[in-house]
Amino acid sequence: KKKIRVAIDGPSGAGKSTIAKAVARELGIDYIDTGAMYRAVGYKTIRCGVDPDDAQAIKEMLDHTEIDFSGGNIILDGVIINDKIRTPEISKRASECSALADVREKLVQLQRQMGQAKSVIMDGRDIGSNVLKDAEYKFFLTASAEERARRRFEELKEKGQPVEYGQILSDIRQRDHKDMTRELNPLCKAEDALEVDSTEMGIEEVTQFILKEIEKTW
Ligand code: C5P
Repeated sequence: KKKIRVAIDGPSGAGKSTIAKAVARELGIDYIDTGAMYRAVGYKTIRCGVDPDDAQAIKEMLDHTEIDFSGGNIILDGVIINDKIRTPEISKRASECSALADVREKLVQLQRQMGQAKSVIMDGRDIGSNVLKDAEYKFFLTASAEERARRRFEELKEKGQPVEYGQILSDIRQRDHKDMTRELNPLCKAEDALEVDSTEMGIEEVTQFILKEIEKTW
């Protein structure tokens, strides 16, 4: 079968990563979670005490930063950081860092490299509109802010993290706003992307829908 690239974009909590993972497994292709890469950068700024407003310090940090995926893990400077980057604090910092030109330049370049060698499904905010503009399949996954907050709430609760629904909803709205209005590669639906509203659809239903769309022509 020929090489394909699949882009899945959308706001946080729409179910992108769960669905992209399932689609990747079904199709036997690689999954690349670009949000995890911005989270890794955000995590490192906190751990190293780097101020995101200090462009010089950010640049220096990026010069000594290695981000990779292996066996479903996100690896920062040789260390697996999977569970360290899924906190509200890191979400916020990742969003702040993702607006910085140097950060985007480095990560977008890395993502394009990752999408070159083999078939991949990549999820994020600017995959169909920027990173993989010529992807063969593009989806824009949405859901109401309330439903996305509810899902995030359940997810964090399950992990035993103390959270409040109202706080999550306001964090999500704030992050949506930031992601959609930033100057560089904002969250937006690519013209040729297929929009899927998952507010009233289950994970399995969306996964099957996307698989069917891909298998129509692959
Ligand atoms: O998808 P996730 O919530 O893990 O992404 C964390 C943050 O990284 C997002 O809020 C967004 O600001 C940023 N991001 C981005 N471009 C991407 C993926 C994520 O700016 N392609």
